[in-house]
Parts: sequence; structure tokens; C-alpha cells
Amino acid sequence: MSFGNMPIANRFVTEHEFEGEYFFELAPAFCAECGTLQLVEQPDPAEMFHDQYAFFSRTSASMQVHFAGYADWVMQHYLGQEPFVVELGSNDGIMLENFARAGVRHLGVEPSENVAKVAREYGVNTLCSFFTPDAATAIRGEHGAANAIIAANVMCHIPDLNAIGEAADILLKPDGVLIFEDPYLGSMIEKNSYDQLYDEHVYIFSLRSVQSIFGRQGFEVVDVLEQGTHGGSMRYVLARAGSRACSDTVGRLRAQESRLGLDNPATYDRFRENCESNRAALVSLLRELKTTGARIVGYAATSKSTTVLNYCGIDSSLIEYISDTTPIKQGRYTPGTHIPVRPHADFVEYYPDYAVLFAWNHAKEIMSKETAYADAGGKWITFVPKVEIKQA
Ligand code: TMP
Repeated sequence: MSFGNMPIANRFVTEHEFEGEYFFELAPAFCAECGTLQLVEQPDPAEMFHDQYAFFSRTSASMQVHFAGYADWVMQHYLGQEPFVVELGSNDGIMLENFARAGVRHLGVEPSENVAKVAREYGVNTLCSFFTPDAATAIRGEHGAANAIIAANVMCHIPDLNAIGEAADILLKPDGVLIFEDPYLGSMIEKNSYDQLYDEHVYIFSLRSVQSIFGRQGFEVVDVLEQGTHGGSMRYVLARAGSRACSDTVGRLRAQESRLGLDNPATYDRFRENCESNRAALVSLLRELKTTGARIVGYAATSKSTTVLNYCGIDSSLIEYISDTTPIKQGRYTPGTHIPVRPHADFVEYYPDYAVLFAWNHAKEIMSKETAYADAGGKWITFVPKVEIKQA
């Protein structure tokens, strides 16, 4: 299936960058043999992760709480003697700072220098690099083998997972674990949240696909834990085959995936049809509201919003601007559709009639802090799982 030409989701542009923006075809494909849903065309990683990378994990209070919990859980279950933890794609250090505070030896491996710099300011040891077998060898030489390699919303960004398996095998202790969590295919299908698909998400994993990808590298999934983050995620715990006991949760999730039809190609045809009807409903609602003279803005210029805006062809004729709290995005324009991104203060100063909630995965946090907007009569437009107007 194809969602058409897409720009890089996190590359917010200035006016003089409108010409010459990088586009690629966003076309996910399902492999019935190994159960993997992945993008056919994978943009060059250097186009996505660079010194202008606009995604800072610290922007959400609920994610700070989530990462503190993730770190505690790793410390409780997976750290033995003289622990050493490595995080892939450690961003601004939001998770590793919990290990740093607890005095646990740690290293973040983060390819975008601007976010790595912020992590160091928080006392998080960070190496600016992609995680490759060579990097793993160098890290092991300098710091020793790791008890745990952890990641959150990173593994699905990495095209060459064989190299990750190889690098993990180099770096981990014999009973070491590779733990990662990412948006879950089952949730995307259930919620029709097609905006999980964008350049950085090369894969939307299921248990079955993780088993087949990392199984080839000698790893097996020994535990799975469902997460509410990013609109529905799954945490996978992998260890070298036979090195650790396997939890019952793994068999249960495999059975549930079959019941959901995740193994069946027809599920993905239905998903495509649902995306098309969701697009038609959103565009017609915005057009209809516009004809009544309503002011519509967007709330949160998320990476996911790039897919929705470009797939639906929504530009500034329908959405006046998008309010976002990340300074690097403010004053710039959304990739491909060129809607201005403005500070949250502009939203508060002159409330619109409607706000399209692009950060729908943070709906609870946002609606509870925007009660003044609701009190002023402001309404929310959501599109996951279906298009509707909500008065908080
Ligand atoms: P994401 O985690 O869903 O990708 O969303 C991150 C973006 O959303 C980031 O640019 C900050 C923005 N955001 C706001 O502007 N206000 C908020 O209240 C939240 C939670 C996020």
C-alpha cells in the first residue's frame, strides 16, 4: 500500500527550504512469511538523524514518568553485579538520567549531536554514533560487556536490524538482555492509527516479526509487556536462545496476534481502506467547518502529523498554524505542507474554535492542562480511531 510522497517527518523547514525538500514514497508492505510490516523505501538515515533533529523526548511530562518507570524496572530485574547499561538512541537522556542518578554505569549511543549535547548537560554519558558492530566492539573494549542494552522508540527506526543483532551479540554479557519498546502493530491496526507510519518508523513490530528478525541472530523473546505509550506499544525482552526462561506472556501474545488477524494479508487491505475513509472524513469535516468561518489550528506538530497532513493534503488553507512547545520547531513550517508552527503562547493568547489534536497519544495530559481552552468553548478534533469533534 502507498501513502504517497512524504517528506522527512521531523524536518521542519524555513521558507527558503520550501524548494528542494527531500521526498520519498511512504509505502509499507507486509511479508506474510515472517509477519513483518516495513517501509519498502527507506530514506537515508543521514536525512533523518542529524544536528537539526527536532525531536526532544523531554517535551512530555508523562513520558518522563514512563521512562523513570522503565529504568526502575530494568534496574530491578536485569542488573547483576557491577552493572553496565547501554541505551540505543538515548536522545536527550530522558531515560538514562535515572540510571545516572542511581549511580549505575551507563552509556547512551545517540547519532544526533544536538540531542546528545542536551543529554550530557543532564550528566548522561553519551557517545554520538550509530550502534554498529564496530561501535559495539569499541564500547566493549573501553567499558566492558553490558548487562542490558535498552531502547525505546528506536529499534523500529533502524533499517539494518541484522547489524543490531550482531552488535548486541558483541556487547552483551552471556546472560545479558536486549530490551526495546516500540509502537505495536496490533494497536495500529485496532486503532487505525496510520500516522505511526513515517520515515523513521521503518518497521511497525509485532511479536511474530521480532521473533523472526532477531531469531536469525540467535536471540529469543523471553518476555513481552504491553505499554500505553505512543498510542499502544510493546516492550520485548530478548536474550540469547536458551540463556533465560521464557515467560507465558510470549505464547499468549502470539495467540492473540493470530486472533487479531495480524498474520493475514487481508487485514492490511482492510487497514488501507479504513485509512482512505478516515482521510475523506477528516478533510470534509475541516472544509465544512471552514465554510462556517471557524478558526482551526493544530495542537502539537508531532512527527505523526506529517503523515496525516501530507496524506490528506491539508495545508494552511484549512489549518491556520500548529501550536508546539518545542523551540526548534517554532517559526518553521511543517514538512511538505508548510503550515506555520507557533509557540503555545499564541494558542493561549487567542484561542481558536477548533484544535486538531495531533498528539492524540497525549490526549489525557493535554486535555487536563487545557481546561481554560475548553471553558472558553474550544473544541478538539480527533481522528484516531475515528474522526470526531470532542468537547473536553
Ligand atoms: P510525540 O511524542 O507524539 O511525537 O509528540 C511530540 C510533539 O508534541 C513535540 O513537538 C511537542 C509537542 N507537544 C506539545 O506541543 N504540547 C504538549 O502538551 C505535548 C504533550 C506535546
